[in-house]
Amino acid sequence: MSASTLDVISVAGARPNFMKIAPMAHALAAKEGVRHRIVHTGQHYDKNMSDTFFTELGIPEPWKNLGVGSASHAKQTAEIMVGFEEIIATDPPDVVMVVGDVNSTIACALVAVKAHVPVAHVEAGLRSFDMRMPEEINRVLTDRISDSLFVTEPSGMANLAAEGVSTDRTWMVGNVMIDTLLAHLDRARASDALHRIGVAEKSYGVVTLHRPSNVDDPATLRGIFGALEEIAGRCPLVFPVHPRTASRMEAAGLRLDPERGFVTCDPLGYVDFLRVMESAKIILTDSGGIQEEACLLGTPVLTMRENTERPITIDIGMNQLVGSDPDAILRAATGILDGDRVTPAAPDLWDGKAAERIADILVQRYGRTV
Ligand code: UD1
Repeated sequence: MSASTLDVISVAGARPNFMKIAPMAHALAAKEGVRHRIVHTGQHYDKNMSDTFFTELGIPEPWKNLGVGSASHAKQTAEIMVGFEEIIATDPPDVVMVVGDVNSTIACALVAVKAHVPVAHVEAGLRSFDMRMPEEINRVLTDRISDSLFVTEPSGMANLAAEGVSTDRTWMVGNVMIDTLLAHLDRARASDALHRIGVAEKSYGVVTLHRPSNVDDPATLRGIFGALEEIAGRCPLVFPVHPRTASRMEAAGLRLDPERGFVTCDPLGYVDFLRVMESAKIILTDSGGIQEEACLLGTPVLTMRENTERPITIDIGMNQLVGSDPDAILRAATGILDGDRVTPAAPDLWDGKAAERIADILVQRYGRTV
């Protein structure tokens, strides 16, 4: 009787990667004959930006950690490439799986493809069409050199088709990040995070902010901050501060004053943050993934960006783009706070089974018969 074996290396680098790797690790572990090694690049390294997620989401210990840490784009990308090349040269897998759009994603995809190891990209096809965003550059380039492209929403399929990617390499599989959300919702609902943070159910909003385009320019940051301060006057705002934002705010002399309605905390763990998002009246964010999570949780979201690579979240009525203009942010927030709560909405195939679909395709496509 013949059996199939498959050797996969997956790449985990930054916080938004970890919730995508978790369901893949579980789905691959459930398959016989699969060896799965996780390489952590070390792009994110603080306990609350990395280790916490491995523990909470039951992700196996990384097989190797490249420990690159923070640096300029060139230095960070280059260091990841040098470390990853050594791994690929020593013990090459059948396929390298990369997720999302961070620097670790493109760095490892580029190394693998040059070593003739096929690359599978999870969360392929998303486009903001804004090449000033480092993530957009990472997305476009990673898709161009990937052999298998796993897509979350219809726009992704259309974008890849428009770029000439053959349909025998693209699959609409759903959303692995939503797999993780659905798997942890019960735990989240049992979390005492609101009590610890000091807010009451459905009485507050949540803010996350870390994009260079919003936080690196002091004038833009001040404008957003002014709008948030007005909103916080009406509805307390829980603001877990990203390390990049913390340092930019300090440099700009901006302080989140509890007297003015800000509830500050360090970046939260995954389960606690789900709890905080689900029970919020409004989410203001510039994150990619949070736009998607908010849809399933039924919390209206304002995206403080000019564009989104996740248009399905707007199409289903859960997300509005407000850019960084203080008046637009304030107007839209007032509309939500005065309006009725919306019903959660799930795009097609965001059903908790995306990782299983991907694992099946990986085994079929790259497995070896022994
Ligand atoms: C990266 C991703 C972004 C993602 C975000 C989520 C890229 C290009 N960007 O942005 O797409 O949305 O992660 O967080 O890959 N820092 C720490 N501790 C850490 C990590 C970072 O203090 O564990 C600080 C450092 O000062 C660092 C800064 O945060 O310079 C930025 O980190 P970096 O990984 O360069 O980018 P992010 O802004 O986190």
